Amino acid sequence: MKKNIAVFGTGYVGLVTAAGLADIGHNVTAVDIDQRKIKELKKGYLPFYEPGLKKIVKSALTTNKINFTTDSDETVSKNELIIIAVGTPEMSDGRADLSQVRRVFDCITDNMVQKKTIVIKSTVPPGTVDKLREEYAAELDVTNSDIIFCPEFLREGSAVHDFYHPERLVIGCNNLDAAKIVDDIYYPVARKMDVPVLKCSTVSAEMIKYGSNVMLASRLAIINELAEFSEVVGGDIRDVAIGMGLDSRIGKNYMKAGPGFGGSCFEKDIKGIAKAADYHGVNLGLVNEILVSNEHQLVRPAMRLERALGSLKSKNIAVLGLAFKSDTDDVRNSAAFNVVEYLIEKGAKVKVHDPQAEYNFIKDFKKKGYTCADTADDAVKKADAIIILTNWKEYEKITPEFLNNLMKGRVIVDTRNMLDEHSFRDCGFTIYGTGLKELKPYKRNNNCKDLVNAAIVTV
Ligand code: UDX
Repeated sequence: MKKNIAVFGTGYVGLVTAAGLADIGHNVTAVDIDQRKIKELKKGYLPFYEPGLKKIVKSALTTNKINFTTDSDETVSKNELIIIAVGTPEMSDGRADLSQVRRVFDCITDNMVQKKTIVIKSTVPPGTVDKLREEYAAELDVTNSDIIFCPEFLREGSAVHDFYHPERLVIGCNNLDAAKIVDDIYYPVARKMDVPVLKCSTVSAEMIKYGSNVMLASRLAIINELAEFSEVVGGDIRDVAIGMGLDSRIGKNYMKAGPGFGGSCFEKDIKGIAKAADYHGVNLGLVNEILVSNEHQLVRPAMRLERALGSLKSKNIAVLGLAFKSDTDDVRNSAAFNVVEYLIEKGAKVKVHDPQAEYNFIKDFKKKGYTCADTADDAVKKADAIIILTNWKEYEKITPEFLNNLMKGRVIVDTRNMLDEHSFRDCGFTIYGTGLKELKPYKRNNNCKDLVNAAIVTV
């Protein structure tokens, strides 16, 4: 059944949810307080890069299935089903800042003349919905309205795909009739597709969201620590991950060692749950350690390069990739900040490149001492060494021949293990993959023109 749905917040979660729900037939009104953003969205311009999103937003605009507005009062009055997908950023003490959620709640309750079903998608600490129910009991009870917590598991870069192919639908509720409304609006992508639908208490649903992100982050922290150890003893972390993953209790997904995890969610949610537990007198010691471990991983590629080159002073270093992962222009908590800062501090001349994220990086990285390249070619030209940080498809295509012609030195730190290290080694490069022992050149390959003098490699 098609519904009229209001979605508050047009960030990653809100906009993908709004566009996805419109695309499966609902009539959606997406609200944001940012007038400029709404003006652009009305014209089909997105505030961020997300593959496939523009297409469904434009199509929903054409069919009038989606409407963008800043008028929150009118939107609440006209819609019975309201989804809250505003930000819950980290406060200076690590707690989740719920002020945006509260502002939406105030607006809803101010305009609540008939029954509403309020669905919170913003990540909130366990117990938040119960607290809101208590605080707004008068307004909710009079109108017989409900609050549901329905966590979102979309990944940036594949959010549109994830909307259409969820692995589970979690509905935290106190009232099964209200839960059915959410179950129904997601019918085409969930129940119809036999996706498991878990109905549980709102506290359990809140814990599921935090617990999932903490579990995923801990998995990455462990694989990255094993990778560091593997580099020293000469193992191959890719084989280690395969071997471990063959145990069905461990599984093969989400096991790629890299430059330390980034993104807007993991760090915020780790701190958020640890602080919330703290408040209740519970110490999540292991959870806190995940961030300590990851901080070290985020800067490790630069330190590894420093060891390889002896000194970074006056070296030309190309940093390929600024986004925290491929297919996004999001740089939040990206290893690029830690790496570029380290390189600059050690006196290197840094040139960065990213196919989508340069603008956001320049905006957020306040330090001077680096330049941006329009293309990867330009970034690697005359470089003594390169560090690949983001797993962009276009970097996978880098060949030894390509670098041979452009680079001055022959050192590569490939944090994503994207390149075929043997072909680079054969062409005279020294290559450092994450979780792999350094590979130094040992023979000349006649297929590679303009071969390097191995002495350039100052390892
Ligand atoms: C994450 C969760 O996956 C998602 O369910 C939740 O809704 C929001 O937070 P996202 O931050 O978009 O999603 O990115 P994700 O794909 O999980 O990657 C997070 C970080 O881990 C990235 O830096 C990525 O490069 C890194 N990563 C991921 C690895 O290093 N190795 C892997 O195997 C997977």
